Amino acid sequence: MRTQVGIVGAGPAGLMLSHLLSREGIDSVIIEDQSRAYVESRIRAGVIESWAADLLVETGVGARMQREGLVHEGIAIALNGERRRIDFKRLTGRGIMVYGQHEVVKDMIKARLAAGGQIEFEITEASVHDFDGRAPKIRYKQGGEAREIACDFIAGCDGFHGICRPSIPNGVLTEFERILPLGWLGILSQSPPPAPELIYSYTDRGFALYSMRSPTVSRLYLQCAPDEDLANWPDDKIWKELKARLGPGGDKLLQEGKVLEKGVTAMRSFVVEPMQTGRLFLAGDAAHIVPPTGAKGMNLAIADVLFFSQALAEFYRSGKTALLEDYTQKCLERVWKAQRFSWWMTSMLHLNPDDGPSDRRRQWAELDYVTSSEAASKSLAENYVGLPIE
Ligand code: FAD
Ligand code: PHB
Repeated sequence: MRTQVGIVGAGPAGLMLSHLLSREGIDSVIIEDQSRAYVESRIRAGVIESWAADLLVETGVGARMQREGLVHEGIAIALNGERRRIDFKRLTGRGIMVYGQHEVVKDMIKARLAAGGQIEFEITEASVHDFDGRAPKIRYKQGGEAREIACDFIAGCDGFHGICRPSIPNGVLTEFERILPLGWLGILSQSPPPAPELIYSYTDRGFALYSMRSPTVSRLYLQCAPDEDLANWPDDKIWKELKARLGPGGDKLLQEGKVLEKGVTAMRSFVVEPMQTGRLFLAGDAAHIVPPTGAKGMNLAIADVLFFSQALAEFYRSGKTALLEDYTQKCLERVWKAQRFSWWMTSMLHLNPDDGPSDRRRQWAELDYVTSSEAASKSLAENYVGLPIE
């Protein structure tokens, strides 16, 4: 089979890339090792920056998000239960869209297939070849049968554990990695969130986040150890801790519900430089990971593929390679700013087991400052709603 751009991975990066390319008249094929049902139900991120929500709408895949997503104009930061609001709308003129990543994935798969796009699910043994020349290839198996995609470019959109990044020869990439001594235990629950906006809660018991997917479905997180054993966390213990970390009155504010999903995510910061070699380009989690406290992961993935699609459009229109050559630089400017913001939010809000009493007092001062100073809260707000994008 032959296409212009062969895409490995049907997460937000791969699907959005295929969608943006099709609008430029550029042909692509996506291969994905999981099933369609699996990727459509994988619960991950929930906050979409305002420019990214606009992009989904402008390119025709945002209609359901506009109907069902929740536009939020601020968040609360709670200090041992005392809630202080950061008013994004007043500070930046913009808000955020709360809409599950798996819903974005569903909408994009539907749109791609309706437009005649090709996505091969449940493939095995994907490998990438010859990307140092002009005729790269992707090989894989479908139902045990060997297949090959001949293409002009390969997009490695296969997430942190994918095969594209490790296929790049030794010595090309520099890895920047910080593994944090922190994790999040997350649940999805059939119950209303405790407040109409997200609550980022700093407490003496550790951090908690009260988010949502709809007015009747909550997404709730507790700071835990990165290797926390879920077996130690029966539902009633999770609810008790979530209530305690909401502060005084938390038991009345937080309604319990059926736990629909439960998982632990360890936190890391990770970036590779460059994000490209020859005709293999990495995008999204394949190239970088941020701790989730800044809600930046999916948004960075969408930004990468927007830049990549613009570079490919220029290449196919005019033969010019300037934007392709600039791809890493363009992405990394945004990636490192998101790393900075995600690290800052994480270190301000979590109890780091390596910290001492002076760190706790400094954190408290910082939280007090950021929730009371116009300048500091504006800085948080403009990063949270999303830095401007061209
Ligand atoms: P992915 O979504 O990982 O997509 C990669 C795709 O490639 C997957 O569908 C995978 O199945 C496929 N793939 C992998 N290997 C192969 C292969 N060999 N062959 C074919 N296909 C392959 N961000 C937030 O902002 N908030 C959160 O709460 C949050 N929670 C997260 C929880 C978890 C457990 C994880 C892993 C991430 C979380 N993130 C969160 C980050 C956010 O979800 C990611 O940044 C986002 O998914 C990145 O999109 P992507 O398309 O680059 O990668
Ligand atoms: C979520 O709703 O899953 C969510 C929201 C904000 C974050 C992280 C995750 O910072």
